[in-house]
Amino acid sequence: MGKITKEKFKTYKTVFDEWTERNIAKLMAQGHFNEILSPIALGKEANVFTAEKKDGTIVIIKIYRLETCDFNRMYDYLRLDVRYSSVKHSRRSIIFTWAQREYRNLMKAREKGIRVPTPMAIRDNILILEYIGDDVPAPKLKDYVPKARRKVLDKIIEYMKKLHQLGLVHGDLSEFNILIKDDNPYFIDFSQSSSIESSTAKELLERDCKNIARFFTKIGTEIEMETIWKKITGKEHV
Ligand SMILES: Nc1ncnc2c1ncn2[C@@H]1O[C@H](COP(=O)(O)OP(=O)(O)O)[C@@H](O)[C@H]1O
Ligand SMILES: [Mg+2]
Repeated sequence: MGKITKEKFKTYKTVFDEWTERNIAKLMAQGHFNEILSPIALGKEANVFTAEKKDGTIVIIKIYRLETCDFNRMYDYLRLDVRYSSVKHSRRSIIFTWAQREYRNLMKAREKGIRVPTPMAIRDNILILEYIGDDVPAPKLKDYVPKARRKVLDKIIEYMKKLHQLGLVHGDLSEFNILIKDDNPYFIDFSQSSSIESSTAKELLERDCKNIARFFTKIGTEIEMETIWKKITGKEHV
């Protein structure tokens, strides 16, 4: 770490617990990033920062807070996912598994051709992701109504269908978790994505379809939840 980096790093120290701090140092030593630049979101469970690599590339760091995230809620959600039903009930293993699941979901989605931030590294509660944006981070769909609305909607439905074919449901899809870059949608925030074999999968897919239908209808591209459902599953919604 250079002198300036060290100074900057100190200002974030208060935010992180020791375990996280050590992991940040290890990820830096491995060259995943060189300097944390600025916080871009403070969510319920995670802090999201931009960081810079030695070569000037910007990356995203998503850190699940070990101390203050609601791991009991995470535990309840994880256990409903058939892939993670036997997760141990300890704070750390739940949070690490939660981060692992997001990483794995992103990887699968990416391999299927869905536009998502490429996951680049994971260490316990810390994810390093591709940065979506240019000078500034790409806006969320809620803050930026694309010109080609129908095209964006079709892409979103195509991605939802691809996820379904992978045996996954996003589970938290809405105008808040879709970024728009060059008029293309990017799906983000896969921490809730579950197997479609899970007991809550139908409910999650219904909610995702409703959110997309509601938002696009609001911005003047009318569509019904049932239409989206049928395009994704090939079946009538019952
Ligand atoms: N890869 C990314 N590129 C640019 N901005 C991002 C990226 N990932 C997350 N963000 C920004 O950070 C915010 C929070 O990230 P998200 O993964 O949705 O976490 P949370 O679980 O806190 O909602 C997003 O709404 C978005 O504005
Ligand atoms: Mg989010």
